[in-house]
Amino acid sequence: MGRTKQMICCVLVAALLLIFSCLGVDGRKQSQTNITKGMKGCNMYEGSWVWDDSYPPYDFSKCPYLPKDFDCLGNGRPDKNYIKYRWQPKNCNLPRFDGVDFLKRLKGKKIMFIGDSISLQHGQALVCHLHAAVPSSNITADNPNIVRFEDYEVTVIVSFQPFLVDVEQRVLKLDSIKSGQIWKDIDILVFNTWLWWLNPEPWDYIQDGDKIVKHMDRLEAFRKGLTTWAKWVNSSIDPSKTKVYFRGTTPLHIIGAEWGDPTALACLNEREPVSGSTYPAGRPAEQKVAEEVLRTITKPVTLLDITTLTQLRKDAHPGFYMKEGPPDCAHWCTPGVIETWNQLLYATLL
Ligand SMILES: *[C@@H]1O[C@H](CO)[C@@H](O)[C@H](O)[C@H]1NC(C)=O
Ligand SMILES: *[C@@H]1O[C@H](CO)[C@@H](O)[C@H](O)[C@H]1NC(C)=O
Ligand SMILES: *[C@@H]1O[C@H](CO)[C@@H](O)[C@H](O)[C@H]1NC(C)=O
Repeated sequence: MGRTKQMICCVLVAALLLIFSCLGVDGRKQSQTNITKGMKGCNMYEGSWVWDDSYPPYDFSKCPYLPKDFDCLGNGRPDKNYIKYRWQPKNCNLPRFDGVDFLKRLKGKKIMFIGDSISLQHGQALVCHLHAAVPSSNITADNPNIVRFEDYEVTVIVSFQPFLVDVEQRVLKLDSIKSGQIWKDIDILVFNTWLWWLNPEPWDYIQDGDKIVKHMDRLEAFRKGLTTWAKWVNSSIDPSKTKVYFRGTTPLHIIGAEWGDPTALACLNEREPVSGSTYPAGRPAEQKVAEEVLRTITKPVTLLDITTLTQLRKDAHPGFYMKEGPPDCAHWCTPGVIETWNQLLYATLL
């Protein structure tokens, strides 16, 4: 038991270190208190994972943009069940992700994923999914973080901004969000932030208004930083030009008790999703905070509410099957669960 605990701690620290060292870049629609659920009459985020022989939805091995770190099959993961699950909402069916239609709908537009290395993964998975739909079209990439589908004039950008708010000279500035200058000219913005707020000490000080402090409760700091972002959306976004998404927080699968198996060695031996539609540990506190902050925004913001469905996927992490580095129960194998995030994103565009 002692050893198991030690191992779990080890994995936790490793997973966090990995997130923080990853030099990535990187819906509910609401107005005031009205959070709707994406597809008419159906909460597409409520459902369960079902086996689907036709999965994965496309052949990833041909994607030149697939990051090697998260190519779990390429990295030797022997079990393949985790790529065979499809998200099935309780009260409706999701449209299949149609890459050509997605590109046509976004013609002339830029979509940007902003957040931590999981946002980077999200954008990269979208690029791979679109590439699979138009493999022989003209796709250019000045750098891996800006991929352009020339024939459709669609640009997918990933931007690494793990707190959304600024960090300058190792001071985390809860009130400052300079990157907003760049974001406001993008057509579709997909934000996320959370995991870095757990980071032991990525800063020396936190600036909170006039105060400079050394420590602050993580959740409280997160709330303040996200509120700065919310105010920015409220004041700077022109909803006729820019559509804003916030992607729900994603879990670490470190503590087996959260999914009812206290003996689990983090995610490392998990081979299937949690069955059913509820995660035993419930909604995470950070996601509740995020939703409270979202409700203060009067401009339209769509919550891409993938938290619960992703919590259920304890089987979809790289675990030991990273290209290099420590076992990882924070990022996601590609393919795996992120195609579903993009399928849901697509559903909100229809
Ligand atoms: C909330 O949104 C729904 C769907 O768009 C709409 O029918 C309803 O009137 C809205 N409610 C409020 C209080 O704005
Ligand atoms: C691809 O698009 C770029 C930018 O428009 C252009 O410069 C290039 O010639 C195109 N390549 C092909 C093979 O069409
Ligand atoms: C957003 O703007 C509205 C109207 O100006 C205001 O009532 C609300 O408090 C603002 N919310 C935030 C988070 O700034």
